[in-house]
Amino acid sequence: MKLKNKIVLITGASAGIGEAAARYFAKEGASLILAARRYDKLLQLASSLEDEYSVKVLPILLDVSDKQKVSEAISALDEYWQKVDILVNNAGMGVTSDLMQNASIDDWDKIIDINVKGLLYVTKAVLNSMIKRNSGHIINIGSVAAHDYYMGGNVYSASKHAVKAISRSLRIDVKGYDIRVSQIDPGMVKTEFSERRWDKQKAEKFYEGVVALQAEDIADAILYCATRPKHVTISDMKVYPSAQVAPTIVHREGDKQVSLFD
Ligand SMILES: NC(=O)c1ccc[n+]([C@@H]2O[C@H](COP(=O)([O-])OP(=O)(O)OC[C@H]3O[C@@H](n4cnc5c(N)ncnc54)[C@H](OP(=O)(O)O)[C@@H]3O)[C@@H](O)[C@H]2O)c1
Repeated sequence: MKLKNKIVLITGASAGIGEAAARYFAKEGASLILAARRYDKLLQLASSLEDEYSVKVLPILLDVSDKQKVSEAISALDEYWQKVDILVNNAGMGVTSDLMQNASIDDWDKIIDINVKGLLYVTKAVLNSMIKRNSGHIINIGSVAAHDYYMGGNVYSASKHAVKAISRSLRIDVKGYDIRVSQIDPGMVKTEFSERRWDKQKAEKFYEGVVALQAEDIADAILYCATRPKHVTISDMKVYPSAQVAPTIVHREGDKQVSLFD
């Protein structure tokens, strides 16, 4: 699949994986709709991509958890931008890792509103046009937390399990259409994610002694999924840093190899 002039909508494009994906798609000549809440960051990114790659970029201020705004923003796109070829549902947050007994219900609401409902709202807003055109690709960013559980992961993990269920169900529901659905599940990626989940200090500690993935590693995986020939769907892809040997097991520099049975 060539990406030149394809229309790619990326949510959560103001930072991290979404921003890196925007750069990778721009390099391939795609036209980009970049969505997030920090509009100033999108404007900066748009102008840098337009200068560097001479591509069309449309930044849109969008809170994916606002059902009405999502529907209005997508309906307000002009005819050219309405025809989204690839949707990258990337917007997402960890918000907290408090244990269930200590957690705030407001934090749970935020996680579910953004990671699950937001992803559904944006998908719904572009899906009918894809169905009408019998063409499209939806790439959802999940997490290795979609496959496992860890202390304090509770509702975040549940939200990513839901993303997995949505990706798999959608793939079944669009059977017979030329619409592909992929899910990429990253392990530890060094972005603003952890800083926003906790704070700078805790985030630094989290990444200490580990060569984590960079946002570009996941952008590369997204591009790989998007550029397979039409008859090939990468339905699921887990991407770990080599030091993360399972969702909850990380080898840090200086760690001794100790077996449970030693
Ligand atoms: N970093 C990791 O270790 C990791 C691991 C597995 C999965 N992931 C997943 O990867 C995705 C991207 O995360 P990241 O690591 O790139 O984190 P990040 O650097 O914090 O970026 C998150 C992006 O999501 C956007 N966003 C958050 N809430 C939003 C909302 N309500 N509406 C629109 N945009 C919103 C943010 O933009 P604004 O704040 O400007 O809106 C930002 O652009 C998420 O789905 C995350 O769950 C990350």
